[in-house]
Amino acid sequence: MSQHTLFPTETEQARAQELRELLEHHSWRYYVLDDPEISDAEYDRLLRELSELEKRFPSLADPASPTSRIGGAVLDSLEARDHTLRMYSLDNALSLTDWREYVERTLRLLPGLEASRLAFWVDPKMDGLAMELIYENGLLTTALTRGDGHKGEVVTEAMRTVKNIPLRLRGEAPRFIEVRGEVVMTTRDFAALNRKQDEAGLKPFANPRNAAAGSVRQLDSRITASRPLRFMAYGVGMVDGVAGGTWPTYHELMQALNAMGFASAPEARVCSDPEAVEAAFNALNAQRDQLPFEIDGVVAKLNDTSLQEKLGYTARAPRWALALKFPPMQAETVLQDIAVQVGRTGVLTPVANLKPVRIGGVTVARATLHNEDEIRAKDLLIGDTVLVQRAGDVIPEVVCSLPEKRSGRETEFVFPSHCPACNSPVFRETGEVARRCVNSSCPAVLKESIRFFVSKGGLDIQGIGSRWIEEFVDKGLVHSTADLFTLTHAALDGLDRMGKKLADNMLQALEHAKKESRLAQMISALGIRHVGAQTAKALAARYRDLDQVAAAGFEELQTIPDIGPQVAESICLYFDTPANKELLARFRALGLWPRSAPPAPEVSEGPLAGKSILFTGTLSSLSRAEAQSAAEEAGARVVSGVSRKLDMLVAGEAAGSKLTKAEALGIRVLNEAAFLELLRQNSGKEAAETVVAREQLRLI
Ligand code: IVH
Repeated sequence: MSQHTLFPTETEQARAQELRELLEHHSWRYYVLDDPEISDAEYDRLLRELSELEKRFPSLADPASPTSRIGGAVLDSLEARDHTLRMYSLDNALSLTDWREYVERTLRLLPGLEASRLAFWVDPKMDGLAMELIYENGLLTTALTRGDGHKGEVVTEAMRTVKNIPLRLRGEAPRFIEVRGEVVMTTRDFAALNRKQDEAGLKPFANPRNAAAGSVRQLDSRITASRPLRFMAYGVGMVDGVAGGTWPTYHELMQALNAMGFASAPEARVCSDPEAVEAAFNALNAQRDQLPFEIDGVVAKLNDTSLQEKLGYTARAPRWALALKFPPMQAETVLQDIAVQVGRTGVLTPVANLKPVRIGGVTVARATLHNEDEIRAKDLLIGDTVLVQRAGDVIPEVVCSLPEKRSGRETEFVFPSHCPACNSPVFRETGEVARRCVNSSCPAVLKESIRFFVSKGGLDIQGIGSRWIEEFVDKGLVHSTADLFTLTHAALDGLDRMGKKLADNMLQALEHAKKESRLAQMISALGIRHVGAQTAKALAARYRDLDQVAAAGFEELQTIPDIGPQVAESICLYFDTPANKELLARFRALGLWPRSAPPAPEVSEGPLAGKSILFTGTLSSLSRAEAQSAAEEAGARVVSGVSRKLDMLVAGEAAGSKLTKAEALGIRVLNEAAFLELLRQNSGKEAAETVVAREQLRLI
């Protein structure tokens, strides 16, 4: 019966409240305690029920609702904000000698105290992204990255999607608390994410830290929601007006954070004196392969907070804490061979084939050697015993050879003078370390170009995996990226393990790409040197199609933001090369010739004609995109920053610094209702009517 009313009944309100509490409880059991009480299916059912209730009754909206973990908010940019208290760095000890010196220094600063009375809280040093979560009256209101320690970036909506972060604190919580910790990914989740990146044709992340940082700093919180992030608390900033709170020991502070619903490293513990810290350091170092997270050392913090206060801070770090770094994970193995790989741009990269060896829980059998000069600098011979290490990055590195272990049978590596894939001569440009195969139809270059062409960074064509690309090229079905669009059932059916359904999907995806690809995607897919997604977008914003891009000269290209002489030269070179001209002619003939939207027709009448407008905050009756296109269709120009030239600002819920700035500049500010009214006045304009009609529908 309540289906058609705007306000929920008391029962519905109570149910929403109950569902939120239930869902938060079960999230905590699952993600913090790792001890679920209900099945995933049951959890999903409860979440769906809540989501449906909230959709029916917008008045039930609550930023602390577990439904906000799904993500949805899309920002224009990340806003910077000051930390209440500086987020310091840590001083490092690279050896136990460094640690012992630190203890002696500390004792000198605390006269009368003996080493045996110096207890430390010892935490694993997690390798992720430092984060501060601010809770007001028990609710998560702001999440800030560490940034430079003074100023961070606001990433609240992204962090709401991290499943083990409480949106509402448990139990009796302070009225105001800043909880600090590290955003991390487990080694296993990281490996799975990189597999997904790889399948999608995207570059894998170098290490869990980069993956965590890249996932948090997303403007679209749905992307963050899809990434397996965890928050591990390790401390606090301001707590009810007191820096660091009033807990007598670090141990008690950590217990309080756990009681509020935060996860922290289970390996952390109190060590009653500096020697016990050494033992804990050694024990964790021995265990580090088996831990779910990558750690690069331990952090020892004085347990007694009154002693912490006495010691205070240096310009960079607290005197009451020290990071004891583990030595990098190294192993000896044999360099069996050096292979040469050919990349998309024709660059030849030497790769070490190693006798497989386990380093830090990962079996290493290959390592990049970057280029010819590096092989010489590291004095590597084939057959050498070499030292290999993994330091932070997943990609291992050959550190050096161990010449004392040579038998005399080792051989020197000779860089090939011809491409290993097509046998054409390779060139080393002056001033460059890399050697290149410049044959534009080299099969290795072609395979890599196709891989890139269909990847997310290119036209994003689904279902054409690396294995098929190998076959297409090896079997001679495809000689260029354009040939992909000439594939037919007849050609595909002959391939091993190619079913009808698979072929159907592939051909459909290609057809779809032909019709739907946007100019920016197409420019990016061409793989022009120095032209990434951002530059491709800038070019597509200026030009209507590839003809116009090709016709733009060296000088004109440099008038586009972010395009300098090097990029401009590379673009000109690409369009001047005969083989590329031929390729483009084929794309055109095949119907793959995207055009960017023509500039919106000038609207010369109405209250919004010719005006610049900016949206900030959340609108309740229409999405940001709907509002922007309605404004544009009514003749306004939507801009992204506040300046004196701005004509009006539309401020929704939770508008932030843009609103403050606009007010300070005396710019006209409209709320949502006033903006809708303005569109309504713009009568006769279809766009406005559509919006108004939708607005009225919602009120029925
Ligand atoms: S305590 C003032 N504890 O290491 C105390 N930091 O090198 C500062 N980190 O930016 C932090 N694990 O993000 C602390 N268990 C841990 C940590 C930890 C990782 C990070 C932290 C900080 C960086 C400093």
